[in-house]
Amino acid sequence: MDLFEYQARDIFAAHGVSVLAGKTVDNAGDAAAVASELGTAVVVKAQVKTGGRGKAGGVKLAKSADEAKEKAEAILGLDIKGHIVHQVLVTEASDISEEYYFSFLLDRSNRTFLAMCSSEGGMEIEQLAVERPDALARIAIDPIAGVDKAKADEIVAAGRIPAAVAEEAAHVIVKLWETFVSEDATLVEVNPLVRDPQDKVIALDGKVTLDTNADFRHPAHAELVDERTENPLEAKAKAKGLNYVKLDGGQVGIIGNGAGLVMSTLDVVAYAGEAHGGVKPANFLDIGGGASAQIMADGLDVILGDDEVKSVFVNVFGGITACDAVANGIVEALKILGDDATKQLVVRLDGNNVEEGRRILEEANHPLVTVVGTMDDAAAKAAELASAGAGSHNTTAAGA
Ligand SMILES: Nc1ncnc2c1ncn2[C@@H]1O[C@H](COP(=O)(O)OP(=O)(O)OP(=O)(O)O)[C@@H](O)[C@H]1O
Ligand SMILES: [Mg+2]
Repeated sequence: MDLFEYQARDIFAAHGVSVLAGKTVDNAGDAAAVASELGTAVVVKAQVKTGGRGKAGGVKLAKSADEAKEKAEAILGLDIKGHIVHQVLVTEASDISEEYYFSFLLDRSNRTFLAMCSSEGGMEIEQLAVERPDALARIAIDPIAGVDKAKADEIVAAGRIPAAVAEEAAHVIVKLWETFVSEDATLVEVNPLVRDPQDKVIALDGKVTLDTNADFRHPAHAELVDERTENPLEAKAKAKGLNYVKLDGGQVGIIGNGAGLVMSTLDVVAYAGEAHGGVKPANFLDIGGGASAQIMADGLDVILGDDEVKSVFVNVFGGITACDAVANGIVEALKILGDDATKQLVVRLDGNNVEEGRRILEEANHPLVTVVGTMDDAAAKAAELASAGAGSHNTTAAGA
């Protein structure tokens, strides 16, 4: 889960990293009030979970409370790369001598953690990484050894942080590592990490991604979830305990058992979709081993709630849960959903007890269900149905 800047800032502060005073508000009047409270020039900052806010007009300096109100009015409601600004952070304006870049992240390709550090931070870090990779130091971090002061000194030197602030920057980096580990983060990024005229090192911006697999260790993290920015289908799936990820721009809903099978189903549907006007998979949904009727009904319910979905591909390989149990699950799920089931289902069963599974579906003879023998043929059928239904928004059984 990605955090907002203000949430990252609170976490940094809790771990002893220097940040600037400020408050988050959702209206311009309150922005003016915070500015007068702070009694300094302020920076009004859009709180959205995407980068490049400054360039999009989402970070503005205000020298008075009136100006803070004006700037907040301009920023609230902005659409930054598809993210609507609901809140702004009003924070002290800092005098900046230099801007650095720093991050800890999970380096999947090298199966370890990575620190990245540069004395040339600010808004163009992606460009720096491409154009002058030498200016961005990358230091692998041994997860067992972690980051002590000596390691932090090494990172600071590699990032060419000036000697005058090297000591303090190293202390900040040790604290950021403590943050990374104790919060179970997969990303802690500070851009810019600034040096002020008094040679203090301050985190001026923060991006933190938390590993939701570790949520059970962090009851407090539940409070960081922002319902306004959560995908409603993903939220619904989560509430039902389903392993669901919405994919943008797809029309074929996918249900499968086993993450590997579902991943390959996405590939096969995307490939089959090329012959049908570029139809694509609409989601990832793994219903796991125990495909009970209730889990199947919950999964279908979530997928059918996606307006973009025009057909559904149920791809099941019977293992411990045999195909007949899955087939009964589908039949029961359609009974549970009743009139809420409105889109064509293409079902491919294989594996344990497949004959009995297919027989059950044929006998049920549900008007929405088409049973297809192979994965490729089923993907083609689902793509064909989706492209036929793509013309109308309210695809019903009769319309598709
Ligand atoms: N409190 C502040 N005081 C002075 N200058 C600031 C302050 N906050 C931000 N700035 C300036 O604005 C620039 C952009 O701010 P920030 O890094 O928070 O947003 P961004 O980089 O545009 O957003 P993102 O990191 O999401 O891409 C900073 O590099 C800094 O120069
Ligand atoms: Mg930034």
